[in-house]
Amino acid sequence: MSVTILTHPLIQHKLTMLRDIETGVKMFREVVGEIAMLMCYEAMRELPTEDIKVTTPVAVATSKALAGKKLALVPILRAGLGMVDGVLSLVPSAKVAHIGLYRDPDTLQPVEYYCKMPHDISERDCFILDPMLATGGTAAAAATYLKEAGARTVKLLSILSAPPGVEKMRLEHPDVEIITCTIDSHLNDHGYIVPGLGDAGDRIFGTK
Ligand code: URA
Repeated sequence: MSVTILTHPLIQHKLTMLRDIETGVKMFREVVGEIAMLMCYEAMRELPTEDIKVTTPVAVATSKALAGKKLALVPILRAGLGMVDGVLSLVPSAKVAHIGLYRDPDTLQPVEYYCKMPHDISERDCFILDPMLATGGTAAAAATYLKEAGARTVKLLSILSAPPGVEKMRLEHPDVEIITCTIDSHLNDHGYIVPGLGDAGDRIFGTK
């Protein structure tokens, strides 16, 4: 399985801002979007291009353009929503599928409550967006859902990861590349990543 850790200084600096308890909702939301955009830049590295002719003010050039691959962004509700606009700013024609999964607070198991896919999901390369890869329960369930729906490929963009989540994905979805900014130490008894950044959904939407 492939895990890509984005060590770029700009990303790591922004990650520190997310971790900081003093970072307020507005700033937190903006920085999640900025990191998502930078992660998208890396995640789309292998998109195919084709040569096209373009007329510059000086001459006709042969130049690269994206070869029209169909993409779907799949935010896991609700924290994944915070990453959508940042990614869409780089790939505005991507479709957005939604998967509503929450972790049962007692069992920590994923419970599905809403799913809406584009009709042609089976023709699309899918990018799951979830800022936190903790137990891996929701990410693995989302990957299973997308594969059953026929998605062409699945990748996971997760800002902050923990070893149990990475391990679960390795066991259940070894073909799904994980793109993340760091792998933290462990999970606490409530399933929070340590040191982590707290509850990503609450910090994005100001619900705490
Ligand atoms: N989800 C969060 O929002 N934070 C964690 O630390 C783990 C899961």
